[in-house]
Amino acid sequence: MADQEWRKVAAVQDIASGKTLCVAVDGREILLCHTSDGVYAVDNLCTHAAARLCEGKLKGHRILCPLHGAAFDVRDGSALTRPASVALATYPVRVDEDGVSLVLAVAGDN
Ligand code: FES
Repeated sequence: MADQEWRKVAAVQDIASGKTLCVAVDGREILLCHTSDGVYAVDNLCTHAAARLCEGKLKGHRILCPLHGAAFDVRDGSALTRPASVALATYPVRVDEDGVSLVLAVAGDN
């Protein structure tokens, strides 16, 4: 991984369960998704036509794009329904007493 540094991006209370929060880190928009089993982080821009996923709905582990309705699994970024076919980038997340932190390097980066 190119960058192993954990970066605090939000306080825990900033993201209610079942909700999302968009944060900007080094010019990149990242969507934090608070699901029943924890917080996941994915790119905020849909891989189909760059709609902002923060304007969509989180349903369980699925984030629904507000523009054409594609669904992505926030756990691994996979595109579940058309018209999207390319996965979202995902980021490791840590939640502790300091808040919500993530590692900016995309999983799979060297
Ligand atoms: S922009 Fe997201 S499905 Fe088209």
